[in-house]
Amino acid sequence: IKKITVSHLKKMKQDGEKIACLTAYDYTSAKLVDSIGVDLVLVGDSLGMVINGYENTLRVSLDEIIYHTKAVKRGLKRAFLVADMPFGTYHVSDEETLNNCVRVIKESGAEALKLEGGKEIAPLIKKITQAGINVVGHIGLMPQFVHAMGGYKIQGRDGGEKLLEDAKALEEAGVFSIVLEGVVVDVAKKITESVNVPTIGIGSGKYCDGQILVFHDVFGMFDDFVPKFVKRYADVKRVIVEGGTKYVNDVKNSEFPDDEHSFF
Ligand code: KIV
Ligand code: NA
Repeated sequence: IKKITVSHLKKMKQDGEKIACLTAYDYTSAKLVDSIGVDLVLVGDSLGMVINGYENTLRVSLDEIIYHTKAVKRGLKRAFLVADMPFGTYHVSDEETLNNCVRVIKESGAEALKLEGGKEIAPLIKKITQAGINVVGHIGLMPQFVHAMGGYKIQGRDGGEKLLEDAKALEEAGVFSIVLEGVVVDVAKKITESVNVPTIGIGSGKYCDGQILVFHDVFGMFDDFVPKFVKRYADVKRVIVEGGTKYVNDVKNSEFPDDEHSFF
C-alpha cells in the first residue's frame, strides 16, 4: 500500500480527486479507518467530547493528544496522520508554541499538526512550517473559540471576505491544507477555488477538496448532540446495545460462558 504524503494530498486537489478524512483516537479504530481507504486521519481535540466527555474541546491537554496520536499511529499503514494542537498550547508565546509543536511531532508520530486560526496566527504558522513541520489550517467555525463566539455559529453569511483573506494568509504562511468548518457553501466554494492547497470541509458543503467527520458521529456512537452536517453511515450504538443486552442476559441466566467458551 502506498503511504499517503503531503505531495499526494496536494496532487489529489490538482487531479480533482476528493480527499476522504476521518478522525480516530485509538489503535483499533485507526486500523479500521485505514483499511477502508481513508486518506487522512485526524486525532482531533474533539476527543475531549467523544472520548473524555468534556462539554467542549478547551480542556484537552497536549499529553492527551500525544497519548491518542501514538495509539492511532500504530494502527495506520496508508493514511496521513494529523494531530490537533489543543487550546492553550500555541497561544502564549512563539517559543512555547514551537516547543509544543516539536514535542507532538517527536513523541507522537504525527506527520502534521492542525491549528485553529486565520491571518492573526499566520506569522506563527510561518515559524512552524519553517521548522519543517507540516501544518493544516482551520478556519470558519473554530470550536476553540466557543466562548469568544458565544456558541457554535455558521460562518460566512456576511459574504466571507475575512475568511478568504484568512485562507490566503494561511496558504502564504505555508499550510499544506485548510480545514473549513461550518462555512456556507458558496464561501467554501470560493475559498477552495482561490487557494492551491486542498480544503477539507466539515459542514461546509460539497465543493471542498475533501471532507472530514468525527468517527463517533459517522458511525452513530455519539448522540449527546448531532449537528445538521453529520451524516450517520452506521448505527453502531444500536449494534452494541443489541449485542450487549444479550450478553448481560446470558450472564444473568448463566448461559454464558457455555462449554464452547470454557477449558476442560
Ligand atoms: O477535532 C476535530 O475532530 C476537528 C475536525 C472534525 C475538523 O477538528
Ligand atoms: Na479540532
